[in-house]
Amino acid sequence: MGSPSLVLTFVIACPFLLFICQSHSVAAYDLDYGKVYEDSKVVSKKLNLSVYYEALNPSCATFIVKNLARIFDNGLNTILNLRLIPWGNAYVNKSSNAIVCQNGSDECQLNTLQACTVNVLRDVNKHFALIYCFEFLVIEGRYKDWRTCFSSLGLNQKPVLNCINSVNGTKLEQKYAIETAQLNPPHTFVPWVVVNNQPIGKDYNNFTAYACKAYKGNSAPIACQ
Ligand SMILES: *[C@@H]1O[C@H](CO)[C@@H](O)[C@H](O)[C@H]1NC(C)=O
Ligand SMILES: *[C@@H]1O[C@H](CO)[C@@H](O)[C@H](O)[C@H]1NC(C)=O
Ligand SMILES: *[C@@H]1O[C@H](CO)[C@@H](O)[C@H](O)[C@H]1NC(C)=O
Ligand SMILES: *[C@@H]1O[C@H](CO)[C@@H](O)[C@H](O)[C@H]1NC(C)=O
Ligand SMILES: *[C@@H]1O[C@H](CO)[C@@H](O)[C@H](O)[C@H]1NC(C)=O
Repeated sequence: MGSPSLVLTFVIACPFLLFICQSHSVAAYDLDYGKVYEDSKVVSKKLNLSVYYEALNPSCATFIVKNLARIFDNGLNTILNLRLIPWGNAYVNKSSNAIVCQNGSDECQLNTLQACTVNVLRDVNKHFALIYCFEFLVIEGRYKDWRTCFSSLGLNQKPVLNCINSVNGTKLEQKYAIETAQLNPPHTFVPWVVVNNQPIGKDYNNFTAYACKAYKGNSAPIACQ
């Protein structure tokens, strides 16, 4: 038997290395895509997969690590615009103006960390690798070690820290609070998964089938065959 830390390193490093390696070849495409993003022809072909979640919720952590991560292996990422919205059941206490999270202030901080991660590292391969790592640590009960994710992935934590320690982090969370509150129909639990405008409710683990069904382009990935 290998030492537990070795096994863990392997488990963590493998999907990460894949993301990082893939990001090389995908980067040029993503960049082009970013430029033409407003072009309705392009936008209409990529589906939005929106995931409304909160950082310390066990069902959300399991969904992200065990299910959502597969899109980078089965090609689904090529037809999806993955949108991660870390707010979930948080709310603003009207009298104190403070954000209240289901799992307390640690969760509020982790939500903001993830909001900043998505917005600072715009490349989905990079920001998903970090969020995968954060949520893996949640499952392990070691979410306070989130800083190690930056070093294990070789990513600079400074821009993300600048974001969470500035008004930028607060603004992002306000934006996500509004988007979550405007869900129609409203979410009733987390993770709440929406394919384009269709919420898929309790069937969230089956999001691949919904995404493939909604896809109108002519280069369906392996996941859809
Ligand atoms: C968050 O709260 C839920 C119940 O609301 C609980 O099951 C879960 O263990 C909590 N997570 C952490 C990391 O404390
Ligand atoms: C909202 O904030 C007020 C003032 O700090 C506090 O007394 C109250 O318990 C809070 N309510 C909730 C639901 O957190
Ligand atoms: C906040 O966001 C703005 C606009 O994206 C950016 O120019 C600025 O550098 C950010 N500030 C911090 C402290 O991250
Ligand atoms: C996908 O989400 C973007 C916002 O990130 C929005 O502008 C666009 O209209 C959405 N596309 C679809 C097909 O829902
Ligand atoms: C997944 O969704 C598809 C289409 O929406 C449906 O046909 C299929 O039965 C679902 N599978 C499961 C396991 O729920």
